[in-house]
Amino acid sequence: MTARSIDGNALSAILRDELAARAAALSARGVTPCLAVILVGEDPASAVYVRNKVAGCEKAGLRSLKDVYPADADPALVMARIAELNADPAVHGILVQLPLPKQFDADAVLEAIAPEKDVDGFHAENVGALMQGNPRFIPCTPYGVMKMLEREKVVLKGAEAVIVGRSNIVGKPMSMLLLAAGCTVTICHSQTRDLAFHTRRADILVAAVGRPKMITGDMIKPGATVIDVGINRLPAEQGGKLCGDVDFESAKEVAGIITPVPGGVGPMTITMLLTNTLESAERALANATGAKA
Ligand code: GUN
Repeated sequence: MTARSIDGNALSAILRDELAARAAALSARGVTPCLAVILVGEDPASAVYVRNKVAGCEKAGLRSLKDVYPADADPALVMARIAELNADPAVHGILVQLPLPKQFDADAVLEAIAPEKDVDGFHAENVGALMQGNPRFIPCTPYGVMKMLEREKVVLKGAEAVIVGRSNIVGKPMSMLLLAAGCTVTICHSQTRDLAFHTRRADILVAAVGRPKMITGDMIKPGATVIDVGINRLPAEQGGKLCGDVDFESAKEVAGIITPVPGGVGPMTITMLLTNTLESAERALANATGAKA
């Protein structure tokens, strides 16, 4: 059997068209959704992600602001800029690209962002809201994965979901969303004793560890839905290409549905960031007009 591959670019294109129409409607009412992005340091992957986020805004009719600081930036300067953006009513989303250089306390930076502008969904208040089943902003990558599962009509109620990776950005919020959707959820991580034992039971397998091709076909249940969140660059001697956490070639012979890398989850992450920014702007307008009424 060869798995059906989910085209994240095609789904993103549909969703971004819908987004652009909503953004235009909002702009016509005098509110252009605006995302502020802060990048600290010269990490090449982060620079590419930020560039794609800004370009995504432009294409969908959202405004964006980009502040770039050197790797040795004083954290107080960045905190002051966040405070300024928090207070600016024309800004609806604030994102600080991670990872931050070591002089930063990343948790303190994320907590400094106003929760109602935290389009990453990383502020403790938003993490708590997600955990309670009443999310304000859903973290973009897991949100994109849920959209893909919805689009493919993957049955979630009662399904065994196994997530490999326990990060705050993907693994943990992903587990909350799948749990809320009715899955029985297992989270595996670097201390998991027998990874393959768990992955072979999964109807839905999400790989988010950042290790190239670590999930191979023999670790997958026949017919499973395999979601690959990893974006890894192979060493030059292996061709230097991008690859996921899943060994696509062997996995596609066993899985029922699979996401490729690149062109799977990656484009969905930015699409959901734009969605969160748009929804934040819609809420801001509703609050402003509600306050006037
Ligand atoms: N670094 C890697 N992924 C992300 C993300 O989703 N948001 C932010 N802010 N930084 C990241």
